[in-house]
Amino acid sequence: MKVLTVVGTRPNFTKEYAMAPALRELGVEEILVHTGQHYDYEMSQTFFDGLNLPKPKYLNTFIKSGFHGDETASMMSYLEQVLLAEKPDVTLVYGDVNSTVAAALAAVKLRIPVAHVEAGLRCEHFYNPEEINRRVTDTMSELLFPHISSAYESLIKENFPEDNVVLAGDIVMDSLLMVSREKDIEATDQGYLLMTLHRAENTDSPERMTNIVGAMVDCGRKILLLLHPRTRGALVKYSLMDKLVKSRNVEVLGPANFVDFVSILAGASKVITDSGGVRREAYIFKKPVINISEFIWVPEMVEAGWSRLVRDDRALILDAIENLTPPKQYPPIFGDGQAAKRIAAAVVKRFG
Ligand code: UD1
Repeated sequence: MKVLTVVGTRPNFTKEYAMAPALRELGVEEILVHTGQHYDYEMSQTFFDGLNLPKPKYLNTFIKSGFHGDETASMMSYLEQVLLAEKPDVTLVYGDVNSTVAAALAAVKLRIPVAHVEAGLRCEHFYNPEEINRRVTDTMSELLFPHISSAYESLIKENFPEDNVVLAGDIVMDSLLMVSREKDIEATDQGYLLMTLHRAENTDSPERMTNIVGAMVDCGRKILLLLHPRTRGALVKYSLMDKLVKSRNVEVLGPANFVDFVSILAGASKVITDSGGVRREAYIFKKPVINISEFIWVPEMVEAGWSRLVRDDRALILDAIENLTPPKQYPPIFGDGQAAKRIAAAVVKRFG
């Protein structure tokens, strides 16, 4: 059986780290394709080096980064040629990035079935880029793997056939547990806050960025900020970088490879983020999450008291930094760390 897996961005690479061995164990031939969406060394190659990921058989080096339509179209036409050459039994895609939707559309138009890992998440904001990608990819997929109960329920409510939807658990948990085991990383509380910030909704708005940076500097607590290239550009453009660099409490670091990221996360007391993935990793390590995006993403975390939506509201951010503490209840929202095995088994059963 031949599975063609498409990756393109950081969160795809870390999921592939758990998926590759699970497919290998079942004797599946996996063709790995990198769309080139993330191309800087610290956004891409460092993940392959650090996690010993299989080298992609195909790497797109002609990516048109910038406008989403242009970027998605250039990835689609690249992937179409790869799919025609490889003729896989199924195309496996992760999450909600432009690479995901490009792969799903290219495959389904060639009548190659699509399996979507992390299907069904809805933020109910029609023009959010990830929402668009996820809705299109879900609709094009024959097999869907929601990672949390609310995502499973969304798919059932939208009338996806139950036979096509498998609640497998979150592969993010598999990857986090695997890397912690391999690198001997243990969650402790070293007293600092870990922060990531990269969503277009924040970086494209000077007002939001000004509010968020103001709260970071004013809180006086040690913050380690891991900077995405898009965010660095925005901070420079809005003349906010100096304020951060000159502050006494914020340490500005570049994008971290996965092992470094997990080590920093393990030592944090709280996490401030607008990322859909980082919040889940934080929860798995029992770190409360201050959510500076517009979207809840994981309602289960909010209901359990582990995540608070503060958007770019200065007063709410400062209050959460001071007062959001780990609650007693800790439901197993993301499964048991065995999602990759379940996904591989379901893929083989359906398409093998
Ligand atoms: C993408 C995903 C987002 C995901 C994030 C993880 C979409 C719509 N967005 O956002 O859901 O959370 O990845 O990091 O797919 N850039 C570089 N170097 C790189 C990569 C990007 O400089 O290696 C620049 C690009 O040139 C572009 C900007 O960063 O100007 C945004 O890159 P893009 O890949 O479009 O989206 P991300 O912000 O990374």
